Amino acid sequence: MSDQQLSGEVYYPSKEVIKHAHAKCDELYKFAEENLEGFWAKEAKELHWFKKWNKVLDDSEKPFYKWFTGGKTNIAYNCLDVHVETFRRNKLALIWEGENGEFRSFSYFSLRRESCKFANVLKSLGVQKGDRVTLYMGRIPELMIGMLACARIGAIHSVVYGGFSVESLHERLEDSQSKVLIVADGSYQRGKIVQLKKIADEALQRAATVESVLVVKRTGEPVNMEAGRDMWYHELMNLPIANNACNIEVMDAEDPLFILYTSGTTGKPKAILHTHGGYMVGVYSTLKYVFDIHEDDRYWCAADPGWITGHSYIVYGPLLNGATSFMYEGAPTHPYPNRWWQIIEKYGINILYTAPTAIRGLMRFGEAWPNRHDLSSLRILGSVGEPINPEAWRWYNRVIGKEKCPIMDTWWQTETGMFMITPLPCMPLKPGSGTKPFPGLQMDILDESGNPVKANEEGFLVIKTPWPAMIRTLYNDPERYVNQYWSKYPGYYLTGDSARRDEDGYYWIIGRVDDVIKVSGYRLGTAEIESALVSHSAVAEAAAIGLPHDVKGHAIYTYVILKAGFEKSEKLAEELRQHVGHEVGPIAKPESVEFVDSLPKTRSGKIMRRVLKAKALGQDPGNISTLED
Ligand code: WTA
Repeated sequence: MSDQQLSGEVYYPSKEVIKHAHAKCDELYKFAEENLEGFWAKEAKELHWFKKWNKVLDDSEKPFYKWFTGGKTNIAYNCLDVHVETFRRNKLALIWEGENGEFRSFSYFSLRRESCKFANVLKSLGVQKGDRVTLYMGRIPELMIGMLACARIGAIHSVVYGGFSVESLHERLEDSQSKVLIVADGSYQRGKIVQLKKIADEALQRAATVESVLVVKRTGEPVNMEAGRDMWYHELMNLPIANNACNIEVMDAEDPLFILYTSGTTGKPKAILHTHGGYMVGVYSTLKYVFDIHEDDRYWCAADPGWITGHSYIVYGPLLNGATSFMYEGAPTHPYPNRWWQIIEKYGINILYTAPTAIRGLMRFGEAWPNRHDLSSLRILGSVGEPINPEAWRWYNRVIGKEKCPIMDTWWQTETGMFMITPLPCMPLKPGSGTKPFPGLQMDILDESGNPVKANEEGFLVIKTPWPAMIRTLYNDPERYVNQYWSKYPGYYLTGDSARRDEDGYYWIIGRVDDVIKVSGYRLGTAEIESALVSHSAVAEAAAIGLPHDVKGHAIYTYVILKAGFEKSEKLAEELRQHVGHEVGPIAKPESVEFVDSLPKTRSGKIMRRVLKAKALGQDPGNISTLED
């Protein structure tokens, strides 16, 4: 790999980086390619199993693949208990800084203690293996503690991003039939307080299954506590039931670990299901090789635990690797645009993993802000969530990485659970390309009829080999799982992205080809935004599209047909924007609301968003033969 002549703009990792790396490129790709199951079995053996698996991969009921069948384990045991038995007992597992400057840290010992105590609290509320527990808060340690407590007792966690609002939370509570909701009173964002408990109260009025609500005190602002339903986390954690010792639930490798809702092509958000065994092996191994986690590293993934990036690479991946993970609560620019650089200097962060939108956002403030800080501790950088434009890549490389930190541009999805197309620190990089599939994975780019496209041609990105952290099903909807991912090209997993592959075999992601919009790296569905709009009394019909935006990557534009008797006005447009913010969340607020008299539709009544997009961009809408009018 290293002696291949590559075309285009290429960056080679330094000798030091290559020497330091766990990943020896040639060996790793060769081994995994020749023996996929052997590769994953070797990785799995580095973790603890109460009982070893019988089979690495069971594809007898594909596309319902199973991994490590017959194996018994528990991801929380591997995240905490395993380390507490070693020299890592007193090593920091988590360092946390609040937006308001507060600071907390947890050793592996204390993180296990807190999660055991909380697991006992959950048990005392009747939570059992297989029950769903929803968590809704900002980036605070209790989120991690809550997730680990659920995993410990075999409950299925469903984390709802703290930037979502009433209807999004309600929908997820209802669909998952959650018994317990863990919520923070509020969270700090850009110096302001988001009143999460208040949002939850409104969502709970619409949701019937929740029996208990546990409230974490973060801001101390007054909140409504409903007698018989709401309890303070800190009070429960001080009761004798919150015992330090909590037996681990021995889980089958294929037992569910969590569900995470994400936006799909049509309709309601869908619950992606991940398991204890395969997911654990996948995230452990990918983080180890890609970010080259070493014992003395301080690793910072700046995503939110409410999204898959946080699940896999703030919570589970780092803990499985016995690493020290750093978590920051607030906005990168609060109170000034040097907050992140200050954090890197203060804590000596070695690895920074973030999204292109954050890089572009910080780039706007100029180099002087990062240049005021000592960033020399950094060794590896990462990017995720959307394609990184070469300009932002170069800035990240030069200004933040000082041209010595390789940038791991990792392509993956909520469904994949782990990195799929990603560099390893031993390989040459091209700005804007995630390079190649992780060792052992086979992917391809196909045309409409399923033939591989030629080099540099655009097509549908598919995955041809199963992988351990893969989605197992859509919770409560196995049929939709098969239809959505495995039916366009039978036998292949459909990613929903379009991509091209250059003459060196490097992949370049172009973007979503379905109705998913990536706004600042967050995944939203046009359907969610549209249904929020039509839930307003003035709206008859609505359409949402994503259009390119300098910082956010994409921004949401909406078109609305009003009901008879309502007048178009600036005021109403603003009211509708606020309404979407209130129902879905501030990230979903449209950039603009345009009133129209009709929407382009197919004869079967489907809105042709492609036509709206082309019109907005002043482009040719292409084939419109199916257009009704
Ligand atoms: C996009 C986030 C280009 C892609 C982990 C994918 C990316 C969707 C990259 C999944 C990347 C993610 N380069 N595009 N490095 N990473 N994407 O489920 O469109 O929130 O399908 O998972 O994000 O978004 P999700």
